[in-house]
Formats: sequence, C-alpha cells, structure tokens
Amino acid sequence: MAFDIDLIKKVYEDLPGKVAEARTKLGKPLTLTEKILYTHLHPESPLQQYGRGKDYVFFQPDRVAMQDATAQMALLQFMMAGRDKVAVPSTVHCDHLILAETGAEEDLARANDQNKEVYDFLSTVSDKYGIGFWKPGAGIIHQIVLENYAFPGGMMIGTDSHTPNAGGLGMVAIGVGGADAVDVMAGMPWELKMPKVIGVKLTGKLSGWTSPKDVILKVAGILTVKGGTGAIVEYFGEGARSMSCTGKGTICNMGAEIGATTSTFGYDESMSRYLKATDRADVAALADQVAEHLTGDAEVYANPEQYFDRVIEIDLNTLEPHINGPYTPDRAFPISEFAAAVDKFEFPPVLEVGLIGSCTNSSYEDLDRAASLARQAKQKGLKVKSEFTVTPGSEQIRFTVQRDGILDAFEEIGGVVLANACGPCIGQWARHTDDPNRANSIITSFNRNFAKRNDGNPQTRGFVASPEIVTAMSISGSMKFNPLTDTLTNERGEEVKLDPPTGVELPPKGFAVEDAGYQEPAADGSGIEVSVDPSSDRLQLLEPFKPIRTEQVQDMRVLIKAKGKCTTDHISMAGPWLTYRGHLENISQNCLIGAINAYNEKTNSVLNYVTDEYMAVPDSATTYRDNGIGQIVVGEENYGEGSSREHAAMEPRFLGVHAVLVKSFARIHETNLKKQGMLALTFVNPDDYEKVRQDDKVSITDFAAMAPNRNLTVVLEHADGTKDSFEVAHTYNQAQIDWVRAGSALNKIRQELTA
Ligand code: F3S
Repeated sequence: MAFDIDLIKKVYEDLPGKVAEARTKLGKPLTLTEKILYTHLHPESPLQQYGRGKDYVFFQPDRVAMQDATAQMALLQFMMAGRDKVAVPSTVHCDHLILAETGAEEDLARANDQNKEVYDFLSTVSDKYGIGFWKPGAGIIHQIVLENYAFPGGMMIGTDSHTPNAGGLGMVAIGVGGADAVDVMAGMPWELKMPKVIGVKLTGKLSGWTSPKDVILKVAGILTVKGGTGAIVEYFGEGARSMSCTGKGTICNMGAEIGATTSTFGYDESMSRYLKATDRADVAALADQVAEHLTGDAEVYANPEQYFDRVIEIDLNTLEPHINGPYTPDRAFPISEFAAAVDKFEFPPVLEVGLIGSCTNSSYEDLDRAASLARQAKQKGLKVKSEFTVTPGSEQIRFTVQRDGILDAFEEIGGVVLANACGPCIGQWARHTDDPNRANSIITSFNRNFAKRNDGNPQTRGFVASPEIVTAMSISGSMKFNPLTDTLTNERGEEVKLDPPTGVELPPKGFAVEDAGYQEPAADGSGIEVSVDPSSDRLQLLEPFKPIRTEQVQDMRVLIKAKGKCTTDHISMAGPWLTYRGHLENISQNCLIGAINAYNEKTNSVLNYVTDEYMAVPDSATTYRDNGIGQIVVGEENYGEGSSREHAAMEPRFLGVHAVLVKSFARIHETNLKKQGMLALTFVNPDDYEKVRQDDKVSITDFAAMAPNRNLTVVLEHADGTKDSFEVAHTYNQAQIDWVRAGSALNKIRQELTA
C-alpha cells in the first residue's frame, strides 16, 4: 500500500481520455496544473469549468504524507472512522521531533528515548491501518517522498507546508492540516478553492555559482510572501528542462514561502533520469508513454499571457546567486549587492553559523557541489571560520554521500553532520553559543527565516541562500564575502580564490543504503494493537463526540465574547503547547486563552456563572460542561483565520461548546467546526453582536428543524428579564447537517461503514 505501481498505472491509463475531455469541456488548451487538477476531480464535482480563485471544488488526491508532529492528531481521528485501512496510500515520517545537539548518532538516540511513546504510537497505528512508516533517522518527509513516492501528473496532500517539494517530480502536491489528511485517508472528497495559475518562464541555463535555489530566491523577491496566495506556480521553458529534478524540487519546496498553494514542473528528461536513479525505471517507462499529457499544452507555453493569470520571465544566463533575509524570505539581495546591504542595514558582519541540507537542499547535486568547495578549501589551506553543519535529507542520501567521500570533505574542513531530520530548520537546535540573546547572523540553505525560527533568539538574523553560497560564506566567516569576486587569506598567508562549484546531478555509482529506516505495514492489521499508554500526557485515544441534543442549545452560557481578531493561534496557541497535540484533554487547556474578552478587555479571564468568579477560559468551560450547562462562543470578523489546525475546533468541542456565533468565519475553520459536529453560525445583522451580554442565557430555538438554506433563531434572555431575538445564518448542506446529527463527520463515516 505504501508504494503502489498499480495506482500509477491506473492514473496513466485514464490520463489521455480525461485530459481530452477536460480540454473539450474548457474549450481551450490546458496548463499542466489544469491537467492534473481536472483529472483528479472527485465525482461530487462534475467536469465543468471552475472559476479560478472563486469556486470550491472536490478532489481525489492519490496519496497522503504526514510528518510526526501533525500525524498524531490526524491518526487519532482517523482511528475513529471505523476503516480497516486507509483509503489511499499514505505514509508517516518521523523527522520533526529530533533535537540537533551534538551530532547524528547521539541526537537520534536521545530522540528515540524522549519521544518513544509518540514513535510507538505512530509505528503501531501505521502498521495496523496500512500506512508506510518511516522511522526516526530515515529522513525528512519531503526528501523521502521525492525519492520514493512522487510521480509526474500525480496529486497528493501532505500535513506539512513544504509538501510542494514533490512538484520537482511533476506532481501537484499541497500542504494541508491534519483534518484534510483524515478526510482523504477516510475516503472522503477533499475540497480546495480552484487555484489561479502563475506561469514562470525560465530561459537560458544555470552556470557557475548560480543554482536552482537562486531561481526561487529571485521569484520570492518578485512575488513577495503573499504573491502566490491562492495560486499554483507552473514553471516552463528551456531553462526548466535544463535543470535537475532535485533542483526543481528545491524551487517547488520554497514556493511555500510566497504563499503558493503549490508549484510544479512538466515531465522531462531530468525527471526520467531521477526516477531511474531512484529505482523507479518502471514509473519512468509508464510516464514516457503519456509524456505529452504530463506537461502543459504547447500553445499555452507559446502564448503564456493568454492562459496564465500572471507570467514572470527569468533568464538563467544572467541570474545571480541571491541571499534573502533577514526575518523574511522575500527580501532578496543579489550577491553583488549584499556586502553593501550588510553595511547599510547594519546586519551583524560576522557569519556565526552556516547550515546546509534540510528538506529544501540536500540532493546529491547540492551536496556534491558544496563539497567541491570544501575540497578546494582544503587544497588551498582554508578551513571553515563559521560553525558549519550539514543535514542530509534522508538516510539514502546520507549513506550515498558518505560512501562517495562527500561528508568527509565537509568534516575535513570542520563541518558537523547532523541527523537526517528537520533539526535546526524547525528550531530543534541546541545551538552552542556563549550568549543566546546576542544579535548575530546565520545563513542556511533551508527555506524559512522568520524571527526565532532556528534558535529561538529574536536577535538572530537568519538569511537563506544556496548550499554553495552558504558553504563559501562559512569558509570566509564573513557576511561581506562575495565568493564570485573576493579572495581569502589562507593558513600560509596567501591570497586564494574559490573557483565556481562543480558537481554531478546523480551519484555515478548509484544511490545506496543499508537500512533506509522503512517499516512496511502489516498485510492484515486487524490483530495489531495501537500503543497508547493511558498515563501518557502527550497522547490520548479519542472518544467519539456525542451529537448535540436540542436541550443542550437552550439557555447556553457565553463562554467568551471575543473582541477583534481571533485567529487559530488565539483559539489554540502553538509554541510549547505543540507537545500536547496528540492529547486532546491536555491541549484543551490552551483553548481560547489568547482571545480578548469583550467584556473586560482581558485575555484568559472570563466570568463564570456557576461560581460567579473570573477564571481562565478552559476552567470556565470545564465548569459549565461538568454542570451540564451548554456554551456558546461569540466572535467578530474572519474568526478562526490562520492555520488549518483542527485542534482549534476540537478543543471547544471537547470542553462542551456547542455553537460558535460570529460576524464571519475563516472558511477552513468553519469547515473544521462542521466536521466536529458543532454549530458554526453567523449574525445576519452583524450589529446583533452588540446585543449579546455577558450574563445572557442564549437559546437556538429551532435547532431541531435545522435545514439547508434556512436561518436559525437565537433568543437572548438577559439577566434583567428582557429578551432579544434575531436570525443567524449558516452554510450547512444536508450532508453537513448529518454530521451534526451524528456528532461529527467521522462518526457519520463510521455509521455508514458499519451500517
Ligand atoms: Fe523539516 Fe524544515 Fe523541511 S521543518 S520538513 S526541514 S522545512
């Protein structure tokens, strides 16, 4: 189930017919993006023209991938769907929870010890439900997906924002929240607003110091962090074809930094070479047969302005290496202008640490080119002046580059090899420094450089560049070094210059690995028991939510009337709470603690009418719940914007909140509330928000008659004996009302499976 050649065969068999049908229906030539999207429509969304950036459409992705932090709640929920196996091939990857401290071996041993209960749970639940399990140390989710599962023309979702990395192999691969993964694994349709399509035409050819990373650093500078929002970026042109498949992966990976839904490239020789090198000649042969359908139509690329929502052109012949940052990945500096920028903006001029690798840049080509600089440095009597770390993306990469002497080249100039995991990229980094608060500069070949991301120090200026540039800068130890023009003084006092990096795309002796760290799921998982320690404070099996009863939405208390912005971070804060994301009861202790109480302008302080005392929001909710008193949360505009985390809906549900009534919802959060069987309601007249008083008893009088396209009635019984009444709207269709009546969407699926 983990890798399914039959599935790919089926996709390719249907492809020519489906593409032709879509072309006829849309009455125009198709972009690659449209080909992939329209051939993955779910039967609930008939083949018709959907408005880009407008219409919501149901899709049927081919695969799901989950990383260990987000997989916990997703799989705890999936267990309640009542299925024997996942509906589509799925994998779990243990990469986010490994702290980088001393080096690969010790760090991995420590992580195995500290996270044992989480890993045991993920391993057994994967084994039981037919999910491929990649153990800690096996590598980073996106690198493993590219090496093993991605295929041209496919569509996948992954519970991590850099899932688009698989676009390097011609997929539409989209980063989502756990709730979406549950939908697809449980066999439900998956919904997405039909994206816009941005075309990036690449002309010319990369050479010298410039690498694929510089393409996306340049694109980020043009489009900014918001420029890709709601769009898929499709790269094409001779420049695209001249680049390696893994280089394309880097570009797609970092498309997340411009807010793009995903990015992709058409099938070409480089993808075929990569498939063959990674033991998938069968997939390459199948793709060759349908190659014309795995790229955009020629007419589209000949007249891009006519078919894309926006077109950008980049000439690779003249593209310079870039360094982007600090604090935001779209602040782009060509290397020739960077030294002046260091002076102008007073960036700390000493480069303290250079970090290469990660899911973004740890291909054989990346590491081979960076190692060519390390070898030169050794020959020319240089060592790294900055601290220098290397994070291989997978055990297969690590084993291969170790065999080929690439890791030795780094270690010989002072580099430290870290575990095959996210490590410093996600702040899992016990950085060695004498002053953790000092203003300082670091450069990584990762993707994100927000404040505090790598080491928690807001004074760390994080910059992003290619592995080649990071390596050269680390050798110099200076932020003002331009390896294209500047010389360095070696141990013998001589002035030496680094030559441009060189390297090969794929290992000449092939990839190799002794133990890739993969666990194939059991063919029959029925006898496998999922390991969850009842005394664990990190994991807790879920109980199905009970359906809301009519009497529970009468005389409800207002848990909190949130004032102003109330994002998913206000509803379910991240940070230290991430430890508990597999334990609903414990993580519910952060429920709405960041929201501002409209009645006293304070956070996490609400009046409870059982005790007549002010208390923390989760405590007040628990008190009401334990006394059998229903609760409603009231809010303003765009309630629940931010991340798609399902905890923001599950926590209030767990604490006994039945309804959320706001001026408007962020769409994903509204859907998440519906999936958890709650009432997501909006004021028909937004001014009615003002009518809700702290001491009200709130009733939804016609809940029993809830029906699609029909408003409900809210009655407020004020403490002074007066009443107010008004209409509230909802967007539930009949299927979603059925979720409410069943207690949750998963309860409904389970009922159907066992019926
Ligand atoms: Fe991990 Fe960083 Fe990639 S957190 S998945 S290495 S973006």
